Amino acid sequence: MIRIAFTKGRIESKAIEIFEKAGYNCDELKNKGRKLFFNIGDDIEVVLAKANDVITYVEHGVSDMGIVGKDTIMEMGSGFYEVLDLGFGKCRFALAAKKGTDFFGGFSHKVVASKYPKVAKEYFSSIGMDVEIVKIDGSVELAPLLGLADGIVDIVETGSTLKENGLEIVSEVAPVSARLIVNSASIKLKKDEIDKVIEKIEKQI
Ligand code: PRP
Repeated sequence: MIRIAFTKGRIESKAIEIFEKAGYNCDELKNKGRKLFFNIGDDIEVVLAKANDVITYVEHGVSDMGIVGKDTIMEMGSGFYEVLDLGFGKCRFALAAKKGTDFFGGFSHKVVASKYPKVAKEYFSSIGMDVEIVKIDGSVELAPLLGLADGIVDIVETGSTLKENGLEIVSEVAPVSARLIVNSASIKLKKDEIDKVIEKIEKQI
């Protein structure tokens, strides 16, 4: 048996689409109610979890595979194999600040708010800049508007959240899309079954 954890929400619906095209039975998944476990045939079970938890389950080997955004992978580390870029859930990490401000100008102490403190820290260390990072749990765009931060490092998809709140991109940080990940023991112990899933999914992307 192979267990695959799908990230709930936006990624989940695209993942279902791909698995259905690949020939798996996703009827139950599409009418899921409050259920969290689904058999999609071929001795494969799908579970639904939050992005961070998909990584935790795959790292601990209680789920052999997972579908999760590169954003969460970059923030949480990677004690697993990242085998496929699924090509959906495309967006990017960007540094943004209030429109018209010069984020990189001057020598003052800079504060950056982010839901992704590790990604933010790595970005600023890659450009050799020392900033203070403040962790925020959601709607991070508020932080510069309330005067808590000079800028934010966040996911930008359409750009409308930034625009509607008077913020603009200062620089691009990294591209993001959904990835297929595999537990490092399962990839050896269940090689044939896992290869079969990867092959079927790869044909759909
Ligand atoms: C994400 C991100 C931005 C928004 C970007 O938030 O943190 O706020 O989407 O999308 P856009 O460029 O298309 O406007 P999400 O909706 O995941 O929830 P959050 O507010 O809890 O962070």
